[in-house]
Amino acid sequence: MQDLINQYLAEIELFFTQNAEELEQFRIKFLSKKGLIPALFEDFKNVPPEQRRAVGQALNDLKNKAQEKFNLIKEQIETGAVEVKSDIDLSLPVDFLQPGSRHPLSIIRNEMVQIFSRIGFVVAEGPEIEDDWHNFTALNFQQDHPARDMQDTFFIEKNPDIVLRTHTSSVQIRAMELRKPPIREIFPGRVFRNEAISARAHCIFHQVEGLYIDHDVSFADLKQTLYYFAHEMFGEGTRVRFRPSYFPFTEPSAEMDISCFVCGGKGCPICKYSGWVEILGCGMVDPNVLENCGINSEEYTGFAFGMGIERIAILKYKIQDIRLFFENDVRFLKQFTGVV
Ligand code: PHE
Repeated sequence: MQDLINQYLAEIELFFTQNAEELEQFRIKFLSKKGLIPALFEDFKNVPPEQRRAVGQALNDLKNKAQEKFNLIKEQIETGAVEVKSDIDLSLPVDFLQPGSRHPLSIIRNEMVQIFSRIGFVVAEGPEIEDDWHNFTALNFQQDHPARDMQDTFFIEKNPDIVLRTHTSSVQIRAMELRKPPIREIFPGRVFRNEAISARAHCIFHQVEGLYIDHDVSFADLKQTLYYFAHEMFGEGTRVRFRPSYFPFTEPSAEMDISCFVCGGKGCPICKYSGWVEILGCGMVDPNVLENCGINSEEYTGFAFGMGIERIAILKYKIQDIRLFFENDVRFLKQFTGVV
């Protein structure tokens, strides 16, 4: 009988309602003539004499608790009052929830995606763990080409090589293998290089790659697209310049600088007093790369570009140290509260 008493007691203590109908159910269940508590009293005569005292007390206690609970809830329902525990001080200030903020890299990535989507680029993604074909070979890196060393690679397996992708250009290859031109896509994502971590370099960073393949795509299209991007990202007055460069997968290749948006080109610490800051690599997709992906290079041409999200964020927000992006220090992150 003691077990049943304990079980009912627990149920009674947990019981709460604001509804008269449910309260009546409670009364019928425990307190009415045919209820569970009177039934226990009925059974009381079977309790061995030496236990009577203890069980009798527990039983009375149970009955009182049920009655008190019933009276209390009845009164609450009738008066519309809700029980307020006396240890809650309603005059204390509220414990404010701290609103979070977007990570600066997410802010910049989203901005890039929006800028390019306005001129018809759609987003696609690829794996971070890549085979040699997608990260190097299909991109026209010869087996012993020194350019493979330009990107210090993390190898997961050797022979056949499986790597952490060193750039998002691997997703170009996947896009061209899977889809037919016209292709107008951007590929944001995380990339990995085996570099010593310092204020200026990290072994993990992010890139946004762009690819446009169609009939008659020219270097003029490339320049105009990136000029538009620079204006949208850094402001109307921004000038751009292209310097010849080399990438195995583009021919011709270039690097694009923008006029320093801090000093306007006069010279300052951000542009190292040159008036220009480098922001991306680009070029016309090498015909070998198109052919590697089953695209007829006589029929189609295209351009590609790639840039580091950290680099753009560092420039835009004048961040001194790339490691801050990965340290999760709230003093850094909360400066971006409210930026969307
Ligand atoms: N993949 C190159 C890099 O990581 C950038 C790039 C992309 C250059 C596309 C040209 C065209 O440095």
